[in-house]
Amino acid sequence: MNATRAQVRAALEGVRRRTHALVDRLEDEDLERQYVDFLSPMIWDLGHIANFEELWLLRRIDGRPGADDKLDHLYNAFENPRWTRGDLPLLDRAAAARYLADVRAEALALLDRTPLDGELPLAEDAYVHRMIAQHEGQHQETMLQLLGLRREVDLPLAHERDLLVTSVRHVDDEERVHVPGGPFVLGTDDRRWTYDNERPAHVVDLPAFWMDRFPVTNRRYAAFIADGGYDRDELWSQRGWQWRHEHGHAAPQGWEPGDGGWRLRRFGRLVELDPAEPVQHVSWFEAEAFAAWAGGRQPTELEWEKAAGWEPATASKRRFPWGDDPPTTRRANVGQVRFHPAPVGSLPAGASAYGIEQLAGDVYEWTSSPFEGWPGFEAFPYPEYSEVFFGGQDYRVLRGSSWAISSPMARVTYRNWDHPYRRQVLAGIRVAWDAS
Ligand code: AVJ
Ligand code: FE
Repeated sequence: MNATRAQVRAALEGVRRRTHALVDRLEDEDLERQYVDFLSPMIWDLGHIANFEELWLLRRIDGRPGADDKLDHLYNAFENPRWTRGDLPLLDRAAAARYLADVRAEALALLDRTPLDGELPLAEDAYVHRMIAQHEGQHQETMLQLLGLRREVDLPLAHERDLLVTSVRHVDDEERVHVPGGPFVLGTDDRRWTYDNERPAHVVDLPAFWMDRFPVTNRRYAAFIADGGYDRDELWSQRGWQWRHEHGHAAPQGWEPGDGGWRLRRFGRLVELDPAEPVQHVSWFEAEAFAAWAGGRQPTELEWEKAAGWEPATASKRRFPWGDDPPTTRRANVGQVRFHPAPVGSLPAGASAYGIEQLAGDVYEWTSSPFEGWPGFEAFPYPEYSEVFFGGQDYRVLRGSSWAISSPMARVTYRNWDHPYRRQVLAGIRVAWDAS
């Protein structure tokens, strides 16, 4: 087995272990119920993961006929909007587990005998196998979004690894870093661990700006609230103000007032709010108001990628903020090592060339950018991943990655997007300021 095959096999097996760790302990009811209209019941994600893998690996690459037409319809995300999925005649958990296991066994066997030399464009360097591994990690993240919304069940998953040692390094959570103006390379031409929307690489020139060294902490966010942040309309856009009043939000998702401070409901359990942890579960509108309160603004996704991935000394692009080597637990809180963000200052080894920390893992960061293709964008391998979401459909780009997503997506070019009014997303804030 060559190195590519071994690496891809390990990625597929690793992500599958986490799928089981996440769902096997849950009750049938936890998997089957449609809790909110904007997220699937988890049992749909399971069948969809298997069906997507069957479609791309067994059929597109290996040319096999479909196992069952019905499944293709049930698990097609475009035919079935999220709010309808709870009423579909989905596979039950035993059948979904079998479907996942059967397809995976075939897919791994296929990996061993598919030429990866470019004879099949989809299989070149195991592109689609890598896509499949990443897709499963993305659905784990949406499953964790759902679990994060639930109040009534005490899920042990968030607490098992809380003993993980984090270095106690006291930092100034309001520190800012200057990023000089000038050209840098946005995007990538890598065709192994990337999605089409990250390509092609191209030069972009930006003016200088300042950026938070750390993601915005719970401490800073609580200060924003205490300073009347949710009651001062001058900090909010018109739409944001309307959203805030329509829903009556006055704190991030999961925050509950306690004696003398905030507490946090995390996977059903009430815990102390750690002032040093990055704030998460805020909408784009809340991020916008916070940034205004801090005298700044949200970064553009271009600024974000320069701050995260550009190495000015060598005029080159890094794959991850710290360099090209893969994430470790000292560099980034990614891949469900914890089930929450890590305190700021605890991952100095993950700093970018500019010295900005925790850009990979922990929480996504809302940017001011709408979701568009880079110049020269080509949909690959299917337009429904990115292209159909480009332009004017009320999406904002999120940059970085989360504690939940799998580690290949800690790369600096990864792009995520969601509606500005969503807050179940594992998203936080990083503020930018003009430098002139
Ligand atoms: C990139 C996270 C917006 O969940 O809608 C999963 C990822 N695409 N299956 C989504 C995705 C197809 C996508 N996001
Ligand atoms: Fe999907």
